[in-house]
Amino acid sequence: MINGIMDIKDQINKENLPSHVAVIMDGNGRWAKAKGKNRIFGHKSGVKSVREVTEAAAELGIKYLTLYAFSTENWNRPREEINALMTLLVSSLSSETKTLMTNNIRLLVIGDVESLPSVVLKKLNTVIHKTSVNTGMSLILALSYSSRWEIVNAAKKLAKDVQEGKVLTKDIDNDIFSEYLTTSGIPDPDILIRTSGEFRISNFLLWQIAYSELYFTNILWPDFRKDEFFKAIFEFQNRERRFGKTSEQIKA
Ligand code: FPP
Repeated sequence: MINGIMDIKDQINKENLPSHVAVIMDGNGRWAKAKGKNRIFGHKSGVKSVREVTEAAAELGIKYLTLYAFSTENWNRPREEINALMTLLVSSLSSETKTLMTNNIRLLVIGDVESLPSVVLKKLNTVIHKTSVNTGMSLILALSYSSRWEIVNAAKKLAKDVQEGKVLTKDIDNDIFSEYLTTSGIPDPDILIRTSGEFRISNFLLWQIAYSELYFTNILWPDFRKDEFFKAIFEFQNRERRFGKTSEQIKA
């Protein structure tokens, strides 16, 4: 509270937090262009938002935060930009390990990680191992991730288990199928945030967002800092989630 004006964080009800927040971080390139800088400058500035949003989520007591850091389709970007993003990822993982440890945050990764350069994979495994003792928030990075890749991959693994007699076709249901996704064991996102004024899902968590609240903002990712995150959570708390039921049923 500053000068008697309640700030946005104080307006959030700690009893009604989303347990899982997913974010499509978009707009680094446009943010940089508007400043007459190159796209890589935009990504570097985006890392500051990654830190702030991670801290903000941990401060509130959110259990899972998933960030879409690199999609399967991003491999089609210019080589130079891909290399810069990979380098940035490794340097950020190195410099932020301490922050993850002091904030009791566990790092996880979803996606086709085997396709990442070995130096990135090695760094990821080191940080995942080091932070595996932490019991607070899970920070999940989606890397070389796309939802269709994940769903097809799950179908293949399930088909193999059926062939080998480990699973019976008649037993397959939503819960069993979910276990074959890379998000197995992680609850579905309660809210999905997308920055930069685009109204798309872009192949992100298609299965998992069946009942998620969608939050779109025009703010570009490098400008999406703590207060913007708190604003999104506040708005989430003021929506009525019905999961296909009527408003009256929910109120009863
Ligand atoms: C979208 O902006 C952003 C990305 C493709 C990469 C996000 C990566 C970071 C914020 C940095 C590294 C991440 C971590 C976790 C340390 P865009 O390039 O699509 O922007 P545009 O739509 O304006 O071109």
